[in-house]
Amino acid sequence: MAHTGALILAAGKGTRMRSERPKVLHTLLGEPMLWHVYRALEGLVPDSAVWTVVGHGAQQMRAAFPGRTPGFVVQERQLGTGHALQTAWPALDSAGVGTLLVVNGDTPLVPRAALAALLDEFQARRPALAFLTVDLPDPGAFGRVVRDAHGAVAAIVEAKDYDPAVHGPLGGEINSGIYALDMAAVGPLLPRLGNANASGEFYITDLVALAVQAGLPVLGVRGGADPQLLGVNSPAELARAEELLRASIVDGLLDAGVMVHQPGTAVVGPRAVLEPGCEISGPCEIHGATRIAAGASVGSNCWIRDAEIGPGALVRPFCHIEGASVGPDCQIGPFARLRPQAVTEQGARVGNFVEMKKARLGPGAKASHLTYLGDAQVGAGANIGAGTITCNYDGRSKHETVIGEGAFIGSNTALVAPVRIGDRALVGAGSVITRDVGDDMLALERSRQRELPRRK
Ligand code: UD1
Ligand code: CA
Repeated sequence: MAHTGALILAAGKGTRMRSERPKVLHTLLGEPMLWHVYRALEGLVPDSAVWTVVGHGAQQMRAAFPGRTPGFVVQERQLGTGHALQTAWPALDSAGVGTLLVVNGDTPLVPRAALAALLDEFQARRPALAFLTVDLPDPGAFGRVVRDAHGAVAAIVEAKDYDPAVHGPLGGEINSGIYALDMAAVGPLLPRLGNANASGEFYITDLVALAVQAGLPVLGVRGGADPQLLGVNSPAELARAEELLRASIVDGLLDAGVMVHQPGTAVVGPRAVLEPGCEISGPCEIHGATRIAAGASVGSNCWIRDAEIGPGALVRPFCHIEGASVGPDCQIGPFARLRPQAVTEQGARVGNFVEMKKARLGPGAKASHLTYLGDAQVGAGANIGAGTITCNYDGRSKHETVIGEGAFIGSNTALVAPVRIGDRALVGAGSVITRDVGDDMLALERSRQRELPRRK
């Protein structure tokens, strides 16, 4: 069987987004539109058989998807979707693609099942070209599907070119911009695409009428009224698509046994893994490759990205956690900030207005209030008093602070790194520690209090 490839059209600027960023790099729940399309193709077409037409902002596109660049085809000037297909054709042809799935890159919610259904229909009926349609009472700016008296597809006519006098009264069926085509049958039609239309562009959609006129079988596969098949062209449409995706992810979590309080305000990205038996509360945002273990609980108003929250951990409201790992049974917050490479081990506690960066709190260690721990290692069971600051930066480089097991750092201490506090050592409140403190020692650095008669 001829092998199946996929082509994503993503070279356009996305004028209606009014943004310099290529449209398909605009994000839904933290991931670019194009990322979502790639994900829909997973399991249907191998990555090595996926091509992407890029053009506007090609450099940004390469930077966003470095692993995909071998499949990038550059369309220097964006002369239309048909021209995009023409541009990619030689690469597809020489790779031996027989059946080609074409997907507009601005259709981020397209379900894998819809693509699979289109391919199945295509394989079963072997037309020259098949495309997915959507029933939409108001077809707006979408291409309109024109069928003949017998219900067979005759053409796709773009909104700007639609003339009821010529094309008949407006039906409610639009083109989704998702096609399956037989390379051998469609190849000869490609050079016949013209640009004599309202936009002056070469339309991929004109292939439909060309194929019909050539007597080739064309199928318009009805995808029902699924809003996930609609292209995204404007900020408002992007926001609507993002909300659809958000709601479907949260519904999926609830069905899987994740307790989501205030589900209407919980934002969970598509790469996050929340184990059944964990609990979160909206409003919240959980992004990236975050993992929340069973038995963990995350309070409202937290923002989390690429973090690990261990079993039994309790994250209280208003925490900001990124690239950090919260161990089993830890308690974090409220109002804590864990920055990249912050690690809290089994049962450690981080309280309000504590910031950690590239710092590890050993098992059972505590930093309960108003502290900065940067480039620090804190041993098991140590207690970091309120207002303790690791002075990790001397204006040029970062230095490490090591605090031993069971150490006790008094309040308002400045630890000037590099510095090591020994196991079970005690540092008096208000000290500025610039030299190492030995195991089991008491270090005090503060001027003696004086008491003088008060002048009247
Ligand atoms: C297109 C279809 C329309 C359909 C709609 C579905 C055409 C002519 N019209 O309209 O029938 O209802 O999608 O969402 O195809 N692109 C390129 N190179 C170009 C132009 C566009 O790669 O020269 C890419 C864009 O980046 C985009 C996709 O093709 O991802 C579709 O282009 P767009 O301009 O958004 O087409 P629509 O007007 O939405
Ligand atoms: Ca579009």
